Amino acid sequence: MSTVLTEPQIRIQNVDIRFEPEGREPVTAAQGVTLDVPLGSIVTIVGPSGCGKSTMLNAVSGLLEPSSGTVSVGGQKVSGIRHDVGYMFARDGMMPWRTALQNVSFGLEVRGVPNHREVAREWLRRVGLAQFENHYRHELSHGMRQRVAVARTFATDPDILLMDEPFGALDSQTRLKLQELFLSVWESSRKTVLFVTHDLHEAIFLSDIVIVFTNRPGRVKSIIPVDLPRPRLPPAELAAAPEYQDIHARIWGSLKDEVNHF
Ligand SMILES: Nc1ncnc2c1ncn2[C@@H]1O[C@H](COP(=O)(O)OP(=O)(O)O)[C@@H](O)[C@H]1O
Ligand SMILES: [Mg+2]
Repeated sequence: MSTVLTEPQIRIQNVDIRFEPEGREPVTAAQGVTLDVPLGSIVTIVGPSGCGKSTMLNAVSGLLEPSSGTVSVGGQKVSGIRHDVGYMFARDGMMPWRTALQNVSFGLEVRGVPNHREVAREWLRRVGLAQFENHYRHELSHGMRQRVAVARTFATDPDILLMDEPFGALDSQTRLKLQELFLSVWESSRKTVLFVTHDLHEAIFLSDIVIVFTNRPGRVKSIIPVDLPRPRLPPAELAAAPEYQDIHARIWGSLKDEVNHF
């Protein structure tokens, strides 16, 4: 695959992350983690709960400094919070006092983008919410709120996207729709994405590479390329393909001993 040959955009090298909360046992969340996210690709981390996935994203965004090892983005070592990162979580993070449009335009306003309203409006259109720009959070379904979050995340044109189980709180139907929406939006920009999920179908459907983490302390257990053509088949058709099933079996074969641990 051509993406594998390009310079990695996110490079994590031999990273350990330890927490030493006062009055409690220290926790090693991640140990010796080395992984690359090639420019313009989607790399997904899967692993059991508590194995340091969110912690790893925090280290890439600069919210948290590794205890040892280095994280770099675009060839530059991360130190301090980065502002060129799009971050998306399971909770939508919509500000309830702002409309959908104002939520999407917020990051643009902060950056002083002069035509922020127009840019935000175009992003709402792309996620299918043109009719809802004046709606507030309580007037939107959970799926719509996550659409707003997708629009908001892409609107500022960040260098990299960090996605922490962004569709994890949705019902399974809505989740599939959001995955398809995310991928179609991503196809037009090919942002570099580090994604976290524990849904293997989601991991395969979206990714170029899936990385399996061990139980805590999180270490890289296996790196599994997803050599399926893009644009991807619709989820149901993809799941029926023998190549998909082969990749699924390889990921699950690596992951199952980790999740059965407790
Ligand atoms: N700020 C913190 N202080 C102390 N321990 C933390 C902190 N953040 C995370 N941890 C611990 O680090 C481990 C990994 O957490 P996390 O990265 O959230 O796991 P995951 O996202 O894979 O479920 C957990 O044991 C968690 O309790
Ligand atoms: Mg997490």
